[in-house]
Amino acid sequence: MGYSKHVMELGTLLFQLLSEALGLDSEVLKSMDCLKGLFMLCHYYPPCPQPDLTLGINRHTDNSFLTLLLQDQIGGLQVLHKDYWVDVTRLHGAIVVNMGDFMQLITNDKFSSVEHRVRANIDGPRISVACFFSSSLFPNDTVYEPIKELLSDESPAKYRGITIPEYTAGYLASGFDGKSHLSKYRI
Ligand code: OGA
Ligand code: NI
Repeated sequence: MGYSKHVMELGTLLFQLLSEALGLDSEVLKSMDCLKGLFMLCHYYPPCPQPDLTLGINRHTDNSFLTLLLQDQIGGLQVLHKDYWVDVTRLHGAIVVNMGDFMQLITNDKFSSVEHRVRANIDGPRISVACFFSSSLFPNDTVYEPIKELLSDESPAKYRGITIPEYTAGYLASGFDGKSHLSKYRI
């Protein structure tokens, strides 16, 4: 409970900075309810005797606006960068900040939802704590679409509007098949 309060404070600051980075008023993302839901998922990955044969988590992007992740000293998180899987350096006390699918949608690709996965490992159990800014578990009929101020004739909307529950249902049904679920909503 204590940790989630700190995550909420950090998230508030990050959403303000990200709004400014988009050239918008600092409260824009907050006013779109990006901070309304915080969903915390604690993972336990048992040691794997044959780590080359499987993965801890298959490749995916997150169904969130933003994800703040703590990984322990075992490491194993990788991001896809220019077709290569790159290790995310383990750094004691560091928090990994991932853009999620809804951030990519509302920013019309200005921010990209990063594809990532977790390697299996033999060295010992691995624990991670993922905090998702997403109201995916609550009924919410707000339709999210690219922010109007970010669009122009040269840069038209790339996605159609969608509600978070509708997106989440399809995302979960696709079962981490390694394909971007967001691409289904591209215009
Ligand atoms: C996730 C995730 C990574 C990790 O929960 O979406 O990517 O390090 N977790 O456990
Ligand atoms: Ni993830």
